[in-house]
Amino acid sequence: MTHLTRRNVLRGSGAAAVGAFGGLGAPGLPGPSRLPRAVAAERSGRRDPYPFLHGAFTPATEEVTAFDLPVTGRIPRELDGRYLRTGPNVLGLEDPRAHHWMLGEGMVHGVRLRDGRAEWYRNRWVRSAAVAAKLGEPYPWQAPADDFANNTHVISHRGRVMSLQESGPMPYLLGEELQTLGPYDFGGSLSGAFTAHTKYDEAADELHAITYYPTWDHVRHLVIDHTGRVARTTRIPVADSPMMHDFALTERYVVVFDTPVTFDAAAAQAGVPVPYVWNDHHPARVGLLPRAGGPVRWFEADPASYYSHTLNAYDDGRTVTVDFTSFPAPFYPAGRGCDGPFALGTPRLDRWTIDLAHGRLRTLRIDDRPQEFPRVRESLVSRRHRYGYAATAAAMWSAYETVDGVPPDTAFGNALIKHDLLRGGTEVHRFPKDSPASEAVFVPAEGGRTEDDGYALAYVHDPRRGAADLVILAAQDFTAPPLARVHLPGPVPLGFHGSWVPA
Ligand SMILES: [Fe+2]
Repeated sequence: MTHLTRRNVLRGSGAAAVGAFGGLGAPGLPGPSRLPRAVAAERSGRRDPYPFLHGAFTPATEEVTAFDLPVTGRIPRELDGRYLRTGPNVLGLEDPRAHHWMLGEGMVHGVRLRDGRAEWYRNRWVRSAAVAAKLGEPYPWQAPADDFANNTHVISHRGRVMSLQESGPMPYLLGEELQTLGPYDFGGSLSGAFTAHTKYDEAADELHAITYYPTWDHVRHLVIDHTGRVARTTRIPVADSPMMHDFALTERYVVVFDTPVTFDAAAAQAGVPVPYVWNDHHPARVGLLPRAGGPVRWFEADPASYYSHTLNAYDDGRTVTVDFTSFPAPFYPAGRGCDGPFALGTPRLDRWTIDLAHGRLRTLRIDDRPQEFPRVRESLVSRRHRYGYAATAAAMWSAYETVDGVPPDTAFGNALIKHDLLRGGTEVHRFPKDSPASEAVFVPAEGGRTEDDGYALAYVHDPRRGAADLVILAAQDFTAPPLARVHLPGPVPLGFHGSWVPA
C-alpha cells in the first residue's frame, strides 16, 4: 500500500494547481467524462449506491503539506493558532460494499494561521495500529482495546489536542503538525469508553463526557477536572444499550438523551458495521443528572425525532433550555448495513424547555430548514447564549438515503447560518451551487465585548478550483463577503467536527 503513503510537500501559490488529491482534484468544473459518480447517478435518475465515497465525500488519498497558502482577502492578524476539523477518510478500501461512512479512518485537516498569513495546511490520518499497518509504519505504543483511528471530533484540553470517538476507542493525542502521539487515557484515569462530544465548562474548569458501550447496562458521566484526570464517574442505568452521540450541560445539570437507537446484537453478529437500530420499544426520554449529585430525573421526549447534536443548553434554576438539531424519526445509523446512515428527512433546529416545577418538557421548532453541526461560542457552553451557528450542505442531505424514498429537501443548501436565539431570526451566508459548507467554529475577537464579536471559520468547497477554502467570516457582519478565503491545495471531504486551537 505504499502508493497511499506518498506525502507531497507543496510550496507557494502553485500548490493549488497540483491536484494532489483524488476525486475532484483537478481545477475547473468536471467535464461529462469526469463527472463525480454521485452527480452522474443523479442525472441518470439512479441513486449512487455509494454516495459517501464520491462527490463531496471523495476520500483524500494522500497526506499533503502545503506552506504559505494563497489567500483572497485578509486574514485577521489576531488569529494565531490552528483550525482543525476531522472526518472519516477510508484508507485502502478494497470492497465498497463493506464500507460505512461513519467507520472511515479519521483524517484531521488543519490550517495554521499566524501574523495574517496561512502558514501551512496539513491533512493526517490518525495512526491507530491498523492505520499504521496499512501505511507500512511502526506502531510504537501498546494498542488499546477497541483501537480505532478516531474520526468524529478533534478538541484541545489543557494544551493537549486529541481526536475522539464514541462507544469504545480511547482518545489519540495529536502533535503540533497533526502527527499522532499515541493513545491517551487521561493519565491512566480513563477506564473504558470515551465520547466524541465533550462539554467544557470554563467557569468550573471541568470537561464533561457521557460515555456508552454496547455491553454496558448503564452509561457513564465523567468529569475531568483541572488536573486533567477523570475525577468522578457516575453510572446511569439504561435499558437496551442506547447510542448516546451527544449530550448537553448546564450550570446545574448534565442533560442525557436516552435515544430510541439501540444496540442490536443480532446485527452485530451478522457483521453490520454500525449495529445500532431504531427501536420502537425503547422510550425516548431526557434525563437531568444534578451536577452536585443525586438521582437522574427523567422526562418523556418526542419519540418522532432523533436527537442529533447540541447547540448549547442552560438553566435558571426553574427551567432547563436545550437547543439542538434533530432528525425526523426513524433514524438508522447503520443504514442498510453499509455506506452510511439513513433517515426520514433532514435535521432541523429545535429547543426543549423543561419546566422543573411542573415536570414538563416542551419542544419548539426554531428553524425548519435543513441544518446540522450546531455550535456556540465555546466559553458559553452550559451558560445562557444568544447566538448559535449551523451549517447546511445539499450534498450531505442527498447522501442520507431517505427511509420513505422521498428525495430530501436540498433547496436550502450550501450555507452557514447564524441564529439569534434571543430575539429570533437568522442571517444566512450562502455559498454557490456545489459549494457544501461544513461545521463552523466561532473564534472570539481579542478584547471583544459582545458575544458575537469574532469570526466564524469553516471549510467550504470551491467548485471552480475543485478544492476547499478555509472561509473566515466576520460573525457580526455574517452575510458580507468573507474576510478571507484561504485556498487549500485540494478538497476536504465533508466530515464531522473540529476546533480552533489558539497558539
Ligand atoms: Fe457529532
